[in-house]
Amino acid sequence: MDPVEALRIVGGSRLSGEVDVLGAKNSVLKLMAAALLAEGRTVLYDVPGILDVEIMAELLRRLGCGVAHDPEQRTVSIEVPAALEHRADYDLVRRMRASICVLGPLLARCGAADVALPGGDNIGSRGLDMHVGGLQRLGAEVASEHGYLLATAPGGLRGASLWLDFPSVGATETLLMAAVTASGRTVIDNAAREPEIVDICRMLESMGARIGGIGTSTLEVEGVASLRPVEHHTVPDRIVAGTWAVAATITLGDVRVRRARAEHLEIALDKLATAGASVEVTDDGFRVRMETRPSAVDIVTLPYPGFPTDLQPQFIALNSVAEGAALVTENLFEARFRFVHELARLGADVHTEGHHAIVRGRERLSGAPVEATDIRAGAGLVLAGLVAEGETTVHEVHHIDRGYSGFVADLRRLGADVTRVGVPS
Ligand code: UD1
Repeated sequence: MDPVEALRIVGGSRLSGEVDVLGAKNSVLKLMAAALLAEGRTVLYDVPGILDVEIMAELLRRLGCGVAHDPEQRTVSIEVPAALEHRADYDLVRRMRASICVLGPLLARCGAADVALPGGDNIGSRGLDMHVGGLQRLGAEVASEHGYLLATAPGGLRGASLWLDFPSVGATETLLMAAVTASGRTVIDNAAREPEIVDICRMLESMGARIGGIGTSTLEVEGVASLRPVEHHTVPDRIVAGTWAVAATITLGDVRVRRARAEHLEIALDKLATAGASVEVTDDGFRVRMETRPSAVDIVTLPYPGFPTDLQPQFIALNSVAEGAALVTENLFEARFRFVHELARLGADVHTEGHHAIVRGRERLSGAPVEATDIRAGAGLVLAGLVAEGETTVHEVHHIDRGYSGFVADLRRLGADVTRVGVPS
């Protein structure tokens, strides 16, 4: 049997030192898709060296692009041809749900897009109804057959008034990328306002798109005939930065997080301060210090600027060793609590009921083998492992690799006892 990789963590180290944050996974994948909108060479900077970037690079190659990803230089260079293929196959799309973000640009550029229905994280149903409904309002015909979404707009897309039932990140991006070269004016109401949406809007603007209301829940797009390729710096990853902030707090450490934007993490950092941490905003990020056992903090996940669902597992880990009990409410992905069964293997006391979890803090967790079920659950388990007594092995580490570039090296530099090990599959 081939060995697969796991992380072996010996708990008890206090993390201290400095760590740099790279560009956001949830932005760069969409920026790569946005590059499809302009013929020529687009270059992206601050690109994290993660598996999902490789998967997206491969997807773009199959569409006819030349893609060079340089993890050392942290760049991706994309050469987009005049004529693109318009089919995204299941073998890649099933590995990464974010592949769906090629739907809007392909439809805009080719008048047709065949995109396999995505898989991705195992964190709930994650429908596509708002993507599809919005594209139909922009004049596309969309059918679902044999596991593919088949979208066509032979006469081109036309601007329209769109309203999202919920400020979906993915649907906002699909509709934005479809609208920028549609004829006439599009208004997207109840749009998502995540920093990653602002990032793609800024890139599209420098490509020549005309977008009003950036950063608000109403985006107004005036369609333009064509876009030009650009060079663009990716926004820093607020979820990775937030994970380091929790790591400092849970290990009673002192970590300076550089190249991060504290303003993108206001609620999360405020919660850490409530838990007892000292949070200091610096020129290029923030510093988090913790000296005493944390106090439990309630959280409610919501679309930005609310508390991010992608930091919920890390905060459950924090609450599992805190003084007192916390109520955690998950409003975005119903299956996101699945990982608490793994956390329970470390001795955590978490009771879930629908989209609520009650976490009663324990004085100590005890190391055990556990399994990561998605990227953020994996991060939560690593944080718990850092404070659990003895040895914790986090299996299925490939989930963590999808979102955290150089995670083990950074953890070790900060003083954690973490090793990548091969285990029999
Ligand atoms: C993105 C992020 C993910 C983050 C999430 C919320 C990427 C690659 N992933 O996911 O890390 O947790 O935003 O901040 O950027 N929904 C529908 N119909 C739709 C679209 C969405 O029902 O047409 C539902 C989903 O099932 C989910 C909720 O809306 O329950 C949120 O989804 P959305 O905001 O679209 O998240 P993603 O773009 O999938």
